[in-house]
This record gives sequence, C-alpha cells and structure tokens, in this order.
Amino acid sequence: MYSIMVDNWLKYMLLTLIAASLLSTSALADCECGYSVNATSDPEHIVYTDIIETNFRTVQNLSYNDAWEIQTSEFPYDPTSGQYGRIDELRNVISNPLIENSTWSGSGTLGPDAGVQIWTRAGIPTNNLVPMGEIRTSRSDILYGSIRALIKATSTNGTCGAFFWYYNDTQEIDNEILSRQNNPGNNTGAVNLILQSLASEAAGYNAAETPTFDTYPLPFNPADGFHEYRFDWTPEKISFYADGKWLRDMTQNIPDNAGRGYFNHWSNGNPSWSGGPPNVDAKMTVAYFLAYFNSSNPARLSDYKSRCPSVAGTHSICTIPEYNSTQPFFFTEQKNMTNNQTNASGDATSNDSGSVMVGPLPQCMMLLIFLAGLFAVL
Ligand SMILES: *[C@@H]1O[C@H](CO)[C@@H](O)[C@H](O)[C@H]1NC(C)=O
Ligand SMILES: *[C@@H]1O[C@H](CO)[C@@H](O)[C@H](O)[C@H]1NC(C)=O
Ligand SMILES: *[C@@H]1O[C@H](CO)[C@@H](O)[C@H](O)[C@H]1NC(C)=O
Ligand SMILES: *[C@@H]1O[C@H](CO)[C@@H](O)[C@H](O)[C@H]1NC(C)=O
Ligand SMILES: *[C@@H]1O[C@H](CO)[C@@H](O)[C@H](O)[C@H]1NC(C)=O
Ligand SMILES: *[C@@H]1O[C@H](CO)[C@@H](O)[C@H](O)[C@H]1NC(C)=O
Ligand SMILES: *[C@@H]1O[C@H](CO)[C@@H](O)[C@H](O)[C@H]1NC(C)=O
Ligand SMILES: *[C@@H]1O[C@H](CO)[C@@H](O)[C@H](O)[C@H]1NC(C)=O
Ligand SMILES: *[C@@H]1O[C@H](CO)[C@@H](O)[C@H](O)[C@H]1NC(C)=O
Ligand SMILES: *[C@@H]1O[C@H](CO)[C@@H](O)[C@H](O)[C@H]1NC(C)=O
Ligand SMILES: *[C@@H]1O[C@H](CO)[C@@H](O)[C@H](O)[C@H]1NC(C)=O
Ligand SMILES: *[C@@H]1O[C@H](CO)[C@@H](O)[C@H](O)[C@H]1NC(C)=O
Repeated sequence: MYSIMVDNWLKYMLLTLIAASLLSTSALADCECGYSVNATSDPEHIVYTDIIETNFRTVQNLSYNDAWEIQTSEFPYDPTSGQYGRIDELRNVISNPLIENSTWSGSGTLGPDAGVQIWTRAGIPTNNLVPMGEIRTSRSDILYGSIRALIKATSTNGTCGAFFWYYNDTQEIDNEILSRQNNPGNNTGAVNLILQSLASEAAGYNAAETPTFDTYPLPFNPADGFHEYRFDWTPEKISFYADGKWLRDMTQNIPDNAGRGYFNHWSNGNPSWSGGPPNVDAKMTVAYFLAYFNSSNPARLSDYKSRCPSVAGTHSICTIPEYNSTQPFFFTEQKNMTNNQTNASGDATSNDSGSVMVGPLPQCMMLLIFLAGLFAVL
C-alpha cells in the first residue's frame, strides 16, 4: 500500500516536471521570438519581431503581389525651380524572374539580371515630367529594423537610384546612388546616406548641410554587379552598411514613427543631384528586399505576445546570417522559420509561410496532456 502510494507520488512528480519543461518551451517553431542582428550570446545584439523578405528574382509578376505596391504618384513640375517634375508609371516597374530558380544568379525571362527592374526613361520630356518607377511595401508598420536590399545600380549617367524607408518628408532614411558618382575608371563609387529631418526641411529639403548627410565612398562601382545596402535602425542610432561592412552610424534625427520600405529610380535634371535626364533609358535592378523589424500594429504586437510568451528554447530567436554574396539566405524559404508572419515572403502565389497558426493552442494541449496524466495517476 505504502509502496504504491510512493510509486504514484513519484509518477505525479515526474509528470509535473515533464509538463513544466514543456510549458517553459514556449516557442514551438523556430524564430517565433524574432530575428536578431548578431547572436543573442554576443555582447551587442538587437532582436526584431517581424519579417518581410522578397526574393524579386523568383517573383513572377510584382503587379500581383500582396507585399508590394507599384506607385503612380506625380511630383509636379514647378517652372520656378529650374528642374523637371517626375511621374511614376506602372510600365517602369518590370519583373524579370529567373528562368531556372535553382540558379541563384543569372538571366531572367527578359534577359540579363533577374530581379525587378525599375526604369528612368530617357530624353527631355515635352510635358516636363520625367518618367520613373517606384514601389513600396504594402505594410506601413515598420518601426525600427534591419533593412537590406541587393541592388545593381544603373551605369547610365543622370539618375538617382534610391532604397529608403519613409514616414514623411522629415522622417526618412535614404540610401541614394547617383550614377554621375560612379567611377568606372577605377571601379569605385559612392552611396549618399541621408536622414531627412526638420533641419533639411528648413533648407528646402537639401540635407547636404545637415549633420545627417554623407556622400560615402564605396570600394566598388554600384553599377558593376549586385551589392547589398543596409541600415540597422534603433531608437538610439542608425548604422549603415554596404556588402555587410559597416560604413557609419548616425545618432541625430532618428525617425520615431512607423513607415514603409521603398525603391525608386528617377531624374529631375538637377545638375547638383540626379543630373540628367539620361539620354538612354536607365535600368536599376533589385534582387531582394529583407526587412527584420518591429511592428507598430497592435494586432502584430499581440500576435507576438501569444506566439512568444517568454523567450525560451534554443531556436526561438534566429540569428540573421551574415551577408553572403554567392548564396543569400531567406527565412521565408525554410520550413517553420516564419510561422505566424504575414505578407512575409512577398510571394502572392504561395501562402506557405504566412498563415500557420501556432501559439496558445499547442500550449493548451500540453496542459490537457498534463491533466490527463494526473487523472490517470489518481
Ligand atoms: C514545425 O513546427 C511544428 C510545431 O512545433 C512541428 O509540429 C512540425 O513538425 C515542424 N515542421 C518541421 C518541418 O520542422
Ligand atoms: C554586432 O556586433 C558588432 C561587433 O562584433 C558590433 O559592432 C555591432 O554594433 C553589433 N550590432 C548590433 C546591432 O548590436
Ligand atoms: C520559381 O519560384 C516561384 C516562386 O516560388 C514560382 O512561382 C515559379 O513558378 C518558379 N519558377 C520555376 C521556373 O520553377
Ligand atoms: C504583370 O503582367 C502584366 C500583364 O502581362 C504586365 O502588363 C505587367 O507589366 C506585369 N507587371 C510586372 C511588374 O512585371
Ligand atoms: C498583405 O498586406 C496588405 C496590406 O496591408 C493586406 O491588404 C493583405 O491582406 C495582406 N495579405 C496577407 C496574405 O496577409
Ligand atoms: C513628420 O511627422 C513628425 C511627427 O509627427 C512631425 O513632427 C513633422 O512635422 C512631420 N513632417 C512633415 C513634413 O509633415
Ligand atoms: C555625367 O554627366 C555630367 C554632366 O554632363 C558630366 O559632368 C559627368 O562627367 C558625367 N559623369 C559620368 C560618370 O559619366
Ligand atoms: C577614382 O576615380 C575618381 C574619378 O577619377 C577619383 O575622384 C577617385 O579619387 C578615385 N578613387 C580612388 C580610390 O582611386
Ligand atoms: C523590438 O521588439 C522586441 C520585442 O518586444 C524588443 O525586445 C526589442 O528591443 C525591440 N527592438 C527595438 C530596436 O526596439
Ligand atoms: C556563402 O554560402 C555558400 C553556400 O552556402 C558557402 O559555401 C560559403 O561558405 C558562404 N560564404 C560565406 C562568406 O559565408
Ligand atoms: C492566400 O490566403 C488568402 C487568405 O486566406 C486567400 O484569400 C488567398 O486566396 C490565398 N492565395 C492563394 C494563392 O492560395
Ligand atoms: C498569429 O497567431 C495568433 C495567435 O497567436 C492568431 O490569433 C493569428 O490569427 C495568427 N495570425 C496569422 C496571420 O496566422
């Protein structure tokens, strides 16, 4: 009798321990507690909860894609400015998907450089509007993040190719590549790193005299192959990178509202900025967009709390891999690394990474298993 009671007591204790260990393993699929710049064991790291990754090389037609919006805005012509206006046109954004997905680089169905093409059209416009292309993320809840893009800029003189984050004209994080700053002779170039601010507004949106402007020399020509541009944005600072190498930090004029990711390619004829307009059509190609970010959306914040009640389990936070020029990594192309993320892959033709429900349900099931075990013992 006594020994049976002890036996049952031991079983009870054992089940309690098993249940406790299961409950503490709160994250069930990988990365449910986020994506981190540097490993969480490193002295410095940042964790972001949400993800949007678009591999433009496998997107068949960006016009049918939930994650992106092709813009049709007009930046009107002001005859007093001495510059042209600009017009965003659908025809200037063209998907050029890989013929064979397994070859990461190479030609697309339309010829060299698979990805999404963004064009600035040639010539002096009779209506004073230079035709350009522009796309932006559908989501406007990007508030802090590590945001990256693989871009081949144009070699045609007279355009500005931009990869940026935007909330409004005074809260904007810019990487702008001016093709007139390419140096094909010695294979170098520059990227303009800019935070638009109240100070740049006061100067007529000329950030050049503000502290958050830098024409940063690059050890490569942005038109010679694909290169990765990146910024890591926290409330304290923005760190800019190119090809995985740190360029510089900016600690003033840090935006604090949520906004969207953008690409555009334009010219307004301003000789001290874009130059141009170009005398032949100019093409910029974007191969990918990666955003690991925190969301300002209350629904996404509560989704995060449910799928990650506490950070536990070895894979609950995933480290974002280092830039790899030969083999990029996409969490959205792995199994179980983007559960409960929405619009994560930018691939409207597959829903495989956006809608798996995990979180409270499996935990409830564990509690049931535990209670069932307890009743079995009693
Ligand atoms: C994905 O995660 C779920 C929940 O933990 C698990 O049941 C499933 O086996 C995992 N699938 C893969 C392919 O790892
Ligand atoms: C990652 O670690 C490097 C040092 O290895 C450090 O310079 C950098 O600031 C860290 N990044 C973040 C986001 O903490
Ligand atoms: C490449 O991948 C995309 C996205 O998964 C798919 O829609 C497309 O059909 C694939 N192309 C080929 C040639 O398999
Ligand atoms: C998508 O397909 C339509 C119809 O063929 C075409 O007009 C449009 O340019 C394509 N969009 C992109 C982004 O390639
Ligand atoms: C993607 O985001 C857009 C804009 O927020 C939304 O309208 C759409 O329903 C989302 N799609 C999915 C599959 O979540
Ligand atoms: C941008 O938003 C900030 C914060 O709401 C505001 O202070 C600023 O005036 C806005 N800028 C413009 C150009 O509207
Ligand atoms: C671009 O055009 C400008 C103005 O015509 C010229 O001064 C400059 O040298 C050109 N730059 C390159 C890289 O061709
Ligand atoms: C490359 O060439 C440009 C234009 O001739 C020059 O201004 C620049 O200093 C050169 N850069 C290097 C690293 O030699
Ligand atoms: C993003 O959100 C996570 C989870 O709430 C938090 O730990 C992290 O500090 C946030 N990152 C930034 C840069 O605010
Ligand atoms: C890049 O990825 C390839 C293929 O996975 C790998 O062989 C190579 O070692 C990686 N390079 C770096 C610098 O991590
Ligand atoms: C993706 O999921 C949404 C929402 O459940 C659905 O409306 C849409 O038809 C799905 N798309 C595809 C291609 O399965
Ligand atoms: C994410 O998970 C929450 C519960 O944790 C669920 O309510 C929500 O519908 C899920 N969202 C998606 C897009 O799967």
